[in-house]
Amino acid sequence: MSEIIAIANQKGGVGKTTTAVNLAASLAVAEKRVLLIDIDPQANATTGMGFSRNDYEFNIYHVLIDRKKLSQIILKTSLPTLHIAPSNIGLVGVEKEFYDNKTKGRELVLKTKIEEIKDQYDFIIIDSPPALGSITVNALSAAHSIIIPIQCEFFALEGLAQLLNTVKLIKRTINPKLEIKGFLPTMFSTQNNLSKQVFADLKQHFKNKLFTANEDEYVVIPRNVKLAESPSFGKPIILYDIKSPGSVAYQNLAQSILAS
Ligand SMILES: Nc1ncnc2c1ncn2[C@@H]1O[C@H](COP(=O)(O)OP(=O)(O)O)[C@@H](O)[C@H]1O
Ligand SMILES: [Mg+2]
Repeated sequence: MSEIIAIANQKGGVGKTTTAVNLAASLAVAEKRVLLIDIDPQANATTGMGFSRNDYEFNIYHVLIDRKKLSQIILKTSLPTLHIAPSNIGLVGVEKEFYDNKTKGRELVLKTKIEEIKDQYDFIIIDSPPALGSITVNALSAAHSIIIPIQCEFFALEGLAQLLNTVKLIKRTINPKLEIKGFLPTMFSTQNNLSKQVFADLKQHFKNKLFTANEDEYVVIPRNVKLAESPSFGKPIILYDIKSPGSVAYQNLAQSILAS
């Protein structure tokens, strides 16, 4: 059975896309069959994997408005067991479309679409937009669990209560099985006292929701310029600089998930 994980946080720039792309690639390198679904209109996961607008005609927008099946938009990547369902800026129209058409069960469109293909994958990783609108609700309704990246900077935990309330609400209404897989500290810098403070806060409040690997060491994603560079080469970090600290950290995250 496939495991469906949404990467979500309504704050922008916290490392959602970096986590989705690199977790998906690390799992694929560990020989798991992985589908990365990009449901952010900014389509950063799609471009970060090396696809440009001319490489595909249809995208997740056409799936959500029921013009295409998920299988009809899936693209192969340079990693043999990693596929991607691309996004495109046109996806911004979907919220309005859902609203105008009063689409019934609009929170469950993505879940229904995933149903048709899920047996072909061990993991399905969903990269969501920086908002708590109906796109993110679709992701959380389709997922077994959510990973919440937390940027180790000022205001890191701001807005978290709202996100956790949304998770609770979806759990109570649409998706009772939804779990918090874990909080993932991102862009951690040893030079920065604030980083240490954020990590200490996370440990204090969510100790058993942090990822561990290699004999119980916490998985923390360091600030690493290679992670910021690799999307411009259209590659996950593992294909760009496998030994960089960022690459090792995302491989540890994958190992932690595979071991659980
Ligand atoms: N660990 C990291 N080290 C350095 N830069 C990072 C790291 N994680 C993300 N970035 C960069 O920070 C920016 C925001 O990250 P991104 O994953 O796109 O966040 P989100 O999807 O939450 O908006 C991007 O330019 C990305 O390349
Ligand atoms: Mg993003």
